[in-house]
Amino acid sequence: MPNTTTHPFLARTDAVLNELRSTGQHKELQTIEGPMGPTVKLAGYGECLCFCSNNYLGLANHPEVVEAAHRGLRDYGAGTASVRFICGTFAPHLALEKRIAALMGAEASYTFVSCWNANEAIFPTLCKNGDLVISDELNHASIIDGIRLATTIKKGLNKGVYKHNDLNDLRTKLTKARGELASDAVIWVVTDGVFSMEGDLPDLPGLRAVCDEFDALLVVDDSHGTGVMGKTGRGTHEHFGMPGSSIDFFTGTLGKALGGAAGGFIAGPASAIDMIVQRGRPTLFSNALPVPVACAADKAIEILMNEPQRVQKLRDNVTYARAEIKKAGFDVIDSPTAICPIIVGETATAIAMSKKLLENGVFVIGFGYPVVPEGEARLRVQISAAHEKTHIDGLVSALKKL
Ligand SMILES: Cc1ncc(COP(=O)(O)O)c(C=O)c1O
Repeated sequence: MPNTTTHPFLARTDAVLNELRSTGQHKELQTIEGPMGPTVKLAGYGECLCFCSNNYLGLANHPEVVEAAHRGLRDYGAGTASVRFICGTFAPHLALEKRIAALMGAEASYTFVSCWNANEAIFPTLCKNGDLVISDELNHASIIDGIRLATTIKKGLNKGVYKHNDLNDLRTKLTKARGELASDAVIWVVTDGVFSMEGDLPDLPGLRAVCDEFDALLVVDDSHGTGVMGKTGRGTHEHFGMPGSSIDFFTGTLGKALGGAAGGFIAGPASAIDMIVQRGRPTLFSNALPVPVACAADKAIEILMNEPQRVQKLRDNVTYARAEIKKAGFDVIDSPTAICPIIVGETATAIAMSKKLLENGVFVIGFGYPVVPEGEARLRVQISAAHEKTHIDGLVSALKKL
């Protein structure tokens, strides 16, 4: 047994942590002492305006969502203590998966404990040796790691990256690939629906057209777009006037607009979803989404489907906030999404600005390396339907003090 106080591992770890501390890059986790809403109670700071949650529709503490979770716990207990194919599937899992499929316009869906897990399931399970998975360079880390995992498990699986939102670069790479791949090889083109750090959108109609040109499948992780984009919150495809059926596969999260607890899903053709059930390692070797969370997410989606006015309120808030932040002299990347990043440069600057905002009663997180590239640290302001204009005015007045 190594001595854990003197083992060289500790010196190595301490060196990294000390470097982070001395350069102002060490992240301090804030403790929240109440529910998530337009304001949150933070230990040491009191009630603060909250502009860093993905609680886009304000459902995280909605009474009906909370009650649904209580009901799940009361009716089914904590869980089955088993993975789903053994004895771990409850009726609410199936109800939720039916509702997700309907929301996304897909034939079927399957849930996971997170979208990270879903992205680690889809590529290793559905891609085969000889296929190509090609991914936008700014895709979420879970997509990147899912593809890395797939190519580690399947050594003959090819992977590639195309420049952010660059259809010409994608077309060039696919032309080359189609010339080299076997005729039965499948090409998988993967994109975020809303890019999580930039808040910008892919050209989904353009991507669909390129995929059709090369007989490729289009996978969209719309974790920041579901419940947010499009008239009824179906997601980024709806924003572009595309039906859900025009996207081959969706992955998504239940941990943002759709209740905000946790959970993820894959939605797509029924046979592919069955393959995930039969062969997915996270489905075969890991427990299900906790049943109270499944019940809460199901209720959150029901509310989204019945109350499109929440999506409209979010859109109005986004328009107002973006205009006011710009008026205050800050440079926000232009886009219709609820993610408004203000680029500030160095990681330490972003962290220091975030701390200053907190001292002024506003909770906005500074993102730096390795979450975003070096030199592109940013304050990521996120807007919710739960915000009122007065909350947004409070944010802008604190930003002005910076
Ligand atoms: C695009 C994208 N995909 C996946 C995830 C992971 O979602 P989850 O928290 O459900 O694992 C996130 C979360 O930040 C995300 O932004």
